[in-house]
Amino acid sequence: MSALPRSPLTAHVGKHPGEPQVMDPALISDPYGGYGALREQGPVVRGRFMDDSPAWFVTRFEEVRQVLRDPRFANNPVASSLGARPEDSPTVRLLDMLGFPEHLRVYLLGSILNNDAPDHTRLRRLVSRAFTARKITNLRPRVAEIADTLLDRLPEHAEDGVVDLIQHFAYPLPITVICELVGIPEADRPQWRQWGADLVSLQPERLSVSFPAMIDHIHELIRERRGALTDDLLSELIRTHDDDGGRLSDVEMVTMVLTLVLAGHETTAHLIGNGTAALLTHPGQLRLLQDDPDLLPRAVHELMRWCGPVHMTQLRYATEDVELAGTLIRKGDAVQLILVSANHDPRHYTDPERLDLTRHPAGHAENHVGFGHGPHYCLGATLAKQEGEVALGKLLARFPGVALAVPPERLERAQVPGSWRLVSLPLRLS
Ligand code: HEM
Repeated sequence: MSALPRSPLTAHVGKHPGEPQVMDPALISDPYGGYGALREQGPVVRGRFMDDSPAWFVTRFEEVRQVLRDPRFANNPVASSLGARPEDSPTVRLLDMLGFPEHLRVYLLGSILNNDAPDHTRLRRLVSRAFTARKITNLRPRVAEIADTLLDRLPEHAEDGVVDLIQHFAYPLPITVICELVGIPEADRPQWRQWGADLVSLQPERLSVSFPAMIDHIHELIRERRGALTDDLLSELIRTHDDDGGRLSDVEMVTMVLTLVLAGHETTAHLIGNGTAALLTHPGQLRLLQDDPDLLPRAVHELMRWCGPVHMTQLRYATEDVELAGTLIRKGDAVQLILVSANHDPRHYTDPERLDLTRHPAGHAENHVGFGHGPHYCLGATLAKQEGEVALGKLLARFPGVALAVPPERLERAQVPGSWRLVSLPLRLS
């Protein structure tokens, strides 16, 4: 397992004994055990965010869903109702600690995820048309075609019979899909993948170089595309912006592209990676799926619950005093929703640590919070689930004897807080 990268964020760890800290290496290396223990301590636990400012950790399924749909909790750290100065908000302090140039802050703070109604509603409406169930179903043949092409080439990447699924399948599939949807040229995609990795690394020396480069690149892309609009999402955003600047500002347009491309591949890649690793280490469940491929949609629900890649949401801020499960959350307090512990809450699931692909009844909506909940529920969830189904279904059909090339305990995980990502997934194909 790789060591936690050195970062100004780790300097605080241990300063407040008894209070969980998001950067604590013990929580990062064992989120299921660590956050599971917090959940059993209580539904609302006082802890510390990455910048070491206080935050309430909400750990149980019902309370997590309750906060995520409660309009008294805001995403925007400097919302006018909070009266906070930007420099006092944990999110902004974190950006400073990570070396984000101040003039570029707006590109993160302007994102759909950092806004509340009415701005959030306006931004979401502008892009949600591209992600309706029908649009995503129509994309399925193209997703399948991309998966087939990657699987055709997979054996060529093998060294001594071993191929890394993360490198050659789990990343290339979703990055190709989201870039085609948004309209990012093929030649730029490797660069985007690097930027995505730099952003999630939380390392100032990587972030401070990559973020400005990414913003410049998107401006350039918009300039070019404006001269030759097509039917991709970028052209759609440009049309909306140019027709009526009140519906989408310059910064919002850039931020939307950034959010969609990064959120659209960095997470899905790890649903595919984690999901494959889970199946290959649970032969009984793997056999069940291989015998009945119709189980795939339910299997993906369960894999999202059991080993979903996103362990926490963005911070929320109480816009007034709120009592939550007996704890008084004061106006302005930050709240951290712990999805990983909610998804393993024994109050909600029978035998939650057991991977059970038949757990979710056929045809039922998902029963987990791996994609969040409420107004900020993942915009790309339908797309991500479809990609997960296609990727796992096709991989297992093409290589029915596929197996891990290393013992499960040697699978290396990226040591980043709030997520579950394999650095590589070495497989033997057969
Ligand atoms: C929001 C997870 C794939 C775009 C979210 C949230 C979660 C999440 C937990 C809510 C965060 C919060 O409330 O603070 C995931 C996971 C994915 C995935 C686990 C893959 C397995 C995608 C894809 C896209 C996408 C493919 C591409 C469009 C977004 C956007 C938001 C979001 C734009 C913000 C929505 C809003 O604020 O209204 N995602 N996501 N995600 N996701 Fe995903």
